[in-house]
Amino acid sequence: MLEVMKCHLCGKLAMIVRDGGKRTICCDQLMEKLVEKNKEVHVPVIKGEGNHIKVVIPGVADPMRSDHYIEWIEVFDGPYLQVKGFEPGDAPQAEFTVSSPQVKVRTYCEEHGLCSNRPSKR
Ligand SMILES: [Fe+2]
Repeated sequence: MLEVMKCHLCGKLAMIVRDGGKRTICCDQLMEKLVEKNKEVHVPVIKGEGNHIKVVIPGVADPMRSDHYIEWIEVFDGPYLQVKGFEPGDAPQAEFTVSSPQVKVRTYCEEHGLCSNRPSKR
């Protein structure tokens, strides 16, 4: 699973496509590996059946405000990854075409971190 790393000094977020076994450094310090949570306010809700789903993120205003908004939704569908980015003012939801509604979905907000309907083990 793609790991998300965060620098707490500059706020940089990095997605690790392949772990080379070395430490990930930013601003001369270790970046933190974000842990997927499923007990936070933004656990993605999947609606729909078949090949067309709507992912709705609870716990945030609709439209989203600049002081608290979902930055992206990721849908992991077998070997495929779909990502939808958001800005303040957007609705916290997106539609995706998938092979099955049994997909893993992750989302991120700055305040609550990385939330998933099926969190990976650490
Ligand atoms: Fe949040």
